[in-house]
Amino acid sequence: ESPEHDKNAKLLKICQVLDKEISYYNWTGFYFKNGDKDELILGPYVGAETDHTIIPFGKGICGQVAVSGETFVVPDVWAQDNYLACSIDTKAEIVVPIFKNGENIGQIDIDSHTIDPFTTEDEELLNWLCEEVAKIL
Ligand code: SME
Repeated sequence: ESPEHDKNAKLLKICQVLDKEISYYNWTGFYFKNGDKDELILGPYVGAETDHTIIPFGKGICGQVAVSGETFVVPDVWAQDNYLACSIDTKAEIVVPIFKNGENIGQIDIDSHTIDPFTTEDEELLNWLCEEVAKIL
């Protein structure tokens, strides 16, 4: 198997474990910078299919995190400007950037069907996870 295939298998496994173990994680996936373009491309995910397979930098929560390099917690997506809806069931979202060698190379994105579900524990878990993920990329 190619190294790329192997990485994607690991990332998918992470999505599957989070989706299974944390009841209020209802869409879990990765986006990555698409080559040298100013856009994100969808990576492995678990959850409903999304139209947002490519997201320009600055667009939506994901595109904003691609620019800011900072975790973005949205307790209520319907109260949020510059948000890209994937599913009408989604009520909240958290996006945490992934840094490799100081560069913002991607992110983990989690949608919830519960309003305001994310705590500092989620942020800590996902921060740690993103640091670990960076090591295998
Ligand atoms: N809601 C995201 C788009 C990605 S979907 O949640 C899978 C956003 O606003 O960037």
